[in-house]
Amino acid sequence: MEVTDKNSLQNMRQTARLGGGEDRIARQHKKGKQTARERINALLDPGTFSEIDTFIQHRATQLGMESKRPWGDGVVTGTGKINGRTVYLFAQDFTVLGGSVGEAHGRKIAKIMDLAYQNGAPLIGINDSGGARIQEGVDALAAYGDIFHRNVQSSGTIPQLSIILGPCAGGAVYSPAITDFVFMAEETAHMFITGPRVVKAVTQEEVDFESLGGAGVHGETSGVAHFTAPDEESVLEQVRWLLSYLPSNNLTHPPVVDSEDDPDRSTPELARLVPGDPKQPYDVRTIIEHIVDGGEFLEVQAGYARNLSVGFARMDGRTVGVIANQPEHFAGVLDIDASTKGGRFIRFCDAFHIPLLTLIDTPGFLPGIDQEHGGIIRHGAKLLYAYSEATVPKVSLILRKAYGGAYIVMSSKHLGGDMNFAWPQSEIAVMGPEGAVNTIFRKELAEADSPNAKKAELVQNYREEFATPFVAASRGYLDDVITHAETRERLNKALALLRNKREETSKRKHGNIPL
Ligand code: HXC
Repeated sequence: MEVTDKNSLQNMRQTARLGGGEDRIARQHKKGKQTARERINALLDPGTFSEIDTFIQHRATQLGMESKRPWGDGVVTGTGKINGRTVYLFAQDFTVLGGSVGEAHGRKIAKIMDLAYQNGAPLIGINDSGGARIQEGVDALAAYGDIFHRNVQSSGTIPQLSIILGPCAGGAVYSPAITDFVFMAEETAHMFITGPRVVKAVTQEEVDFESLGGAGVHGETSGVAHFTAPDEESVLEQVRWLLSYLPSNNLTHPPVVDSEDDPDRSTPELARLVPGDPKQPYDVRTIIEHIVDGGEFLEVQAGYARNLSVGFARMDGRTVGVIANQPEHFAGVLDIDASTKGGRFIRFCDAFHIPLLTLIDTPGFLPGIDQEHGGIIRHGAKLLYAYSEATVPKVSLILRKAYGGAYIVMSSKHLGGDMNFAWPQSEIAVMGPEGAVNTIFRKELAEADSPNAKKAELVQNYREEFATPFVAASRGYLDDVITHAETRERLNKALALLRNKREETSKRKHGNIPL
C-alpha cells in the first residue's frame, strides 16, 4: 500500500491496531479475555506505550497464507513504563492467526528481547497463542528456537516475566519456563506440552484443558506458575507489584523506597506468635509480616510446596528475599519440591543483588521411599548448592528448631551465612530429642523398669545439653542469640552492616548444580 499523506498512515495504524477485526475481538472478549493492546494499556503506566514493528508482515505463501497478511503478524511489541521504570514487552494477539508464531512474529519478539537485553530493562511477554504456525513449518520452529536462545542469554541479566492469558501449548511453553516468573489467569490460561487429545491418543487418559494445564495445576501441583489470579486485571496488578521489588538489571540494585516503618521497631509480640511446643504448627507468614516493613510480603509460588514459604519484602526500604520453613504445612519439613522451589528463588535473588533473609524452623529432610526414589538426595542438594553459591548478604534467624542436614542447608555459617542469629529457646541438634534418645539409649530404655519415665528424663537431659543455641553460639556458628523484641532491629542492623558486601567468586565457566 502506498502511503501518500498523514491520514493514510493513520488509517494504516488504525487497521493494524484492530488486529483480527471486530468479530474476532468480540470473540476474544466473550471468552473473558482482553486484546493484546488492552492488556498492554492495563499493565503499563497510562500513556507510556511506544510501539514498534506495527507493519511487520510474514512472507509465507503456502496453505493460503498469501491472502492472509495482517500487519503486526499477531504480536504487539514495544516499550513503556511500570511504576515509572522502563520495561520492554510483547503481547501475542490471539485475534490475528490465533497468535501463532511464524517467522516474522518470532523475529519481532526476538528484536524486542534484544532491545531489553541491550538496554538493561525487564522483558515481559504476554502469551496467548495457538503455538507454532502450522503453515510456516520449520520457520516457525526456528522462530521459537531463536526466542529460547535469547531467554537463556538474558537469564540473570534482566528480569524476564511471562504472563499466560490464553493457550500456551507445545514447545511454546519452554520460553516461559526459562523466564524468572510465570503468571497465569485462572480458567483462561492453559499450559501443556501436548493437549488433551494427544494425551488420550498416547496414554488413553481422559483429561480436560483445566485439569491438564490450568492455573490451579501449575500453581499448586507442578510449580510451573509462580503467581495465579482469578482474572487478567489481578494478574497484571501482581506483575506491577512484583516489579516494584526488582532492579532493572543485574548491574543495578533494586529501588529503595522511603519506609514509614521504624527499622528499630520492637517486636515483642513474636514471642507469643511462635508456640513453645516444637510440634505445634503456626503460620510463618505471620512472623514474616511482623518483621518486615509495613507487614508487606509478596509470596512467590504460594500454593506450591507450601512447607517452604518464599517471597519478597522490604527491610528499611530495601528489597529482601525471604525464605522461611512453614510449620503450618508438613511441620516445615524439607522435601523435593521445597528444595527446588527454594533453590530457584535463591538463585534469582543472588543474580539480582537481593539479600536473603532466612527464617528457620524445620525438623529436617522428609524421610520416605517416595522421597528417596524421587531423588531427594539430588534435589535437596540444589537448595544447599544455591545457598552456598549465593554471594549476596545472607542473614538468618533460627526461630524454634534446626535439626540435622536442614540446619546446615538453611543458610548456615558453614555455607557462607554472613549473620546467623537464633532465639534463646531454639534447638539445634543432629536430630530431635525423641529420635536421639531412641537411637543412643535403645538398650537402657529396653532394660528400664519404667521406660516412659526413663525416656522423659533422658529427653530432658538431651534438650538441656544439646538442643540449645548456646553450643552453636559458643563455637561462633551463630553470631548472636537475640530476643524476640529486638528481632527486627537486629536483622535490619545486620542487613545494613552487609550492604557493601563484596565476595570474589572463583574463575570458572560455571559450576555444576545438581539439576
Ligand atoms: C496456525 C492457528 C494455530 C496454529 C490456531 N490457529 N492455532 N493457525 N497455526 N498453531 C488459528 C485457527 O486456525 C483459527 O484461525 C484461529 O487461530 C483461532 O483458533 P481457534 O481454533 O478458532 O480458537 P479456539 O477454539 O479458541 O482454540 C484455540 C486452540 C486451537 C486450542 C489453541 O486453535 C488449537 O488447538 N490450535 C492448535 C494448537 C497446536 O497444536 N499448536 C501447535 C503446538 S506444537 P481462523 O482463521 O479460523 O480464525 C508447537 C511446537 C512448537 O507449538 C515447538 C517449539 C520448539
